[in-house]
Amino acid sequence: MKRIGVVTAGGDAPGMNAAIRSIVRTAIFNELEVVGVERGYAGLIEEKIHSLDIRSVSGIINHGGTILRTARCEEIKTEKGIQKAVHTLKNYKIDGLIVIGGDGSFRGASELYEASGIPVIGVPATIDNDVAGTDTTIGFDTAVNTALFTIDRIRDTATSHERVFVVEVMGRKRGFLALAVGFAEGAEFILVPEIKLDVESICKKLEQGRKKGKTSEIIVMAEGVGDSSLIAEEIRKRTGYDVRLTILGHALRGGPPTAHSRILANQFGALAVELLLKGAKKKMVGIRGQKLTWVDLDYSWKQKKDLNQHLYRLAEILSS
Ligand code: F6P
Repeated sequence: MKRIGVVTAGGDAPGMNAAIRSIVRTAIFNELEVVGVERGYAGLIEEKIHSLDIRSVSGIINHGGTILRTARCEEIKTEKGIQKAVHTLKNYKIDGLIVIGGDGSFRGASELYEASGIPVIGVPATIDNDVAGTDTTIGFDTAVNTALFTIDRIRDTATSHERVFVVEVMGRKRGFLALAVGFAEGAEFILVPEIKLDVESICKKLEQGRKKGKTSEIIVMAEGVGDSSLIAEEIRKRTGYDVRLTILGHALRGGPPTAHSRILANQFGALAVELLLKGAKKKMVGIRGQKLTWVDLDYSWKQKKDLNQHLYRLAEILSS
């Protein structure tokens, strides 16, 4: 193991730069060379590679995004794309690859290992927190806090105007972000893809709440539930309440990573290098409780992470 590569793939997440910094400095401390792959797997296919030294990662720990940039790459899902990527890994004498990303990126990493025999280690970084094998992912805590910063302000105006606000957060397939945000915000309703939408029941509960003296409500909704503008309009029509919609969108993907996201990134990055040095082949680093751990890389994308139903039920009780 003389030279390792690092790539950020899929949707960016706050803390990816902290992970890149940790990987580069841990590797150089262990007398390894490090190369960075630009723009995710597209950079691997197009041979966009450059060396990284300890100064390359100065001043980035507190910045969202990724200095390597990232991209969605359909070509890596093809046999030809995999072969081009393997050629680059061998051409640049990369003895191990660390992939910072989400479950989709780890599926590609697994196929790269199978096609090349070059060890790959996954570092889970996505605001969706939908990666099996780790309690939480780099960027998730930051996105939750970014959402809370905004929804606390929406709560002020909702109260003043006695309005219902539907707030859409990211989470195309899973509701981990919506659940955490709604629970921390004390939202009256949390809508997630895992639980069937029942607008009639929402409206009934809204009316019951108003009868009990509530004058405004927050509904946090994961984008994967459906068309938030249609849902907001249906609630307005059914109840007659003044219903407004705010879509937080990509604002949740940026901003300075929180301490939690940075600490996780520092630890995950260092552990990923240590696993490569120990001869690990196809793993993903993670955290269970307070303990750092690792799992087979295939587990991270083949397994479906469960939503915390207890938290969901407690959120309903606490927001009554
Ligand atoms: O995977 C993270 C994520 O932010 C999802 O929550 C969201 O649906 C998706 O990426 C958006 O992808 P893009 O930035 O490519 O539009």
